Amino acid sequence: MKILCLGRLPQDLEEKLLELAPIDFIDRTTALPDHELIEALQGKTIILTEPQDQLNEKVVAAAPELKMIAQRAVGFDNINLPVCSQNNILVSNTPGVLDNATADLAFALLLACGRRIVEADSYVRSGQWTGFENDLLLGTEIFGKTIGIVGMGRIGYAMAKRCHAFSLKIIYSRSGDLGRDDNEIEIDERDKKLALELNAQRVSLETLLKNSNFVSVHCLLSATTTELIGHKEFSLMPHDCIFINTARGKIVDEQALADAIFTNKIKGAGLDVFYSEPAVHKLLLAAPNVVLAPHIGSATAETRHAMANLAVSAALEAFKNKSKPANLLNPDIWQDWLEKQ
Ligand code: DGY
Repeated sequence: MKILCLGRLPQDLEEKLLELAPIDFIDRTTALPDHELIEALQGKTIILTEPQDQLNEKVVAAAPELKMIAQRAVGFDNINLPVCSQNNILVSNTPGVLDNATADLAFALLLACGRRIVEADSYVRSGQWTGFENDLLLGTEIFGKTIGIVGMGRIGYAMAKRCHAFSLKIIYSRSGDLGRDDNEIEIDERDKKLALELNAQRVSLETLLKNSNFVSVHCLLSATTTELIGHKEFSLMPHDCIFINTARGKIVDEQALADAIFTNKIKGAGLDVFYSEPAVHKLLLAAPNVVLAPHIGSATAETRHAMANLAVSAALEAFKNKSKPANLLNPDIWQDWLEKQ
């Protein structure tokens, strides 16, 4: 048995994983070409992956010895899950441990855009500051404004808690609501709890877009959420709207976003994720009212360690303890998988 790890692992977790099998490491920041990944996968039983690694149908089909993909991320749009299940390959991810870090970054982007912090920093550093001015770098008041949270999963909820603490009014739409009008939305127990705890109200995406001073995206990338936010959606937002995305770049039509920024349809944007990372649309790079970050939502030392630990633990659970990892994305194949070991 042999393991392939894409990216580095903390020393303590490398030692833990070595209990199972020798590890080959490949350090890369962008996706390996299919043929290189296929070659590296030969003879490997487990692979540790990150969001940029493309475990598509071709790659999975060409890795006959592969039995587990342990993804070090909560998002798993880079993995063809149905094909993995068909090929009896377990797939795990890292839910839960990165909610706070990611929501912190989303909220930091909201504040940075609203209060023009990056512009202010450059202004001071470049020597332009000549003294106090009443209307210098005026931003947007946060208190009392409305935030629309697209996707009320674990990270959306962590964001909502931060927004509530800053006295923002919260409206949200859930993934199941896409394409529904307000009168088609069925409020459930979770919505009632969110209303009580955070005064948050579930609405249709259209109502959310029309009524939010800030829109923050927190849904998974899937076939239904690809380019969910495009020209039409930006045109529904109020002109003072600030758009935040810490989920996945492909949820947004980046050209539509650039157009909305440059035609002042919206006021600004805070982005941690991009359509074709690490490429960034050149108009977004040029816009002073856009704050950019290099996909660092979960990048705190503690959270990245916790994510790696979940991935390593899932592999140990499955192969050493022969027990079902809690964070399997295809638990339905577990029994069959186990019987074939
Ligand atoms: C995730 O977990 O999906 C993030 O994008 C990477 O940490």
